[in-house]
Amino acid sequence: MHFSNLQDKVVLITGAGSGLGRSVAIKLAALGAKIILIARTERELNEVKEIITKKNGKAEYYICDIRNREEIKNTVKNIFNKFKRVDILVNNAGIWTDEHLEENDSSLRKNVLETNSLGHINFTYELLPYFKKRNEGFIFNVISTSGVGDVPAGNNALWKSHGASKWAMTGFTKALREELINTKIKVTGFHPGGFDSMLYEKAGRVNPHNQPWMMKTDDVADIVVFVLTRPKDVLMEKIIVTKIAQ
Ligand SMILES: NC(=O)c1ccc[n+]([C@@H]2O[C@H](COP(=O)([O-])OP(=O)(O)OC[C@H]3O[C@@H](n4cnc5c(N)ncnc54)[C@H](OP(=O)(O)O)[C@@H]3O)[C@@H](O)[C@H]2O)c1
Repeated sequence: MHFSNLQDKVVLITGAGSGLGRSVAIKLAALGAKIILIARTERELNEVKEIITKKNGKAEYYICDIRNREEIKNTVKNIFNKFKRVDILVNNAGIWTDEHLEENDSSLRKNVLETNSLGHINFTYELLPYFKKRNEGFIFNVISTSGVGDVPAGNNALWKSHGASKWAMTGFTKALREELINTKIKVTGFHPGGFDSMLYEKAGRVNPHNQPWMMKTDDVADIVVFVLTRPKDVLMEKIIVTKIAQ
């Protein structure tokens, strides 16, 4: 099969401490990529780094809150000092809050929008000039079915601010793709339905795991890896993945 070789490619993954980011990191490291793990919880980042390095893979972590522009700038500077390059940016970090919680606490709304949208947009802007200079790179945005209208799970009546944060990323992804249409820089919007990660547990939800509507995180990660390893001149622009009968 003809696919892009990831050997020694530098892949930066935000939200790599748990869930999808963690699974993708481990799978890409096994294909020879050098993985840069980003999140806020050092214990989780270190755990992922150890899993990768024990299997002779390469990984480094940087603690960074993607809601903070200065932290992003410093992190990217430190990454370039050490690695000299980034080939793939996986904008994956994210949080969930249930709508009824947001109704009582507007800071949760701010948090959702600053993490799920602005954080990714700022991270992308930090790397974009570098990708443009090389006329190469891959910006892979993990969004959600709540950022597309094509599936029933896109019903944002259930999760308004969360839906807004994901639709913002859908719009940003589309605009970016159009801006870069005559370049060799790939832009993908990835829209998974529910899967069993730490997302709902971290948001304090009751029964956060093993729900019938959840896919396995590793199954979703396999699809991410498939998309990231297509030939250089093949773009999968928009991918929707759901549990059958979601
Ligand atoms: N699980 C689902 O059902 C589902 C469905 C559709 C889309 N998604 C999307 O998939 C992506 C991955 O989520 P997941 O389900 O794998 O959840 P997860 O297990 O909770 O992982 C989220 C990751 O994001 C990091 N993160 C959160 N806020 C951050 C911040 N301000 N700065 C840096 N890192 C931050 C978390 O680490 P720290 O807290 O340590 O920072 C964690 O590593 C998210 O964008 C989510 O919206 C998930």
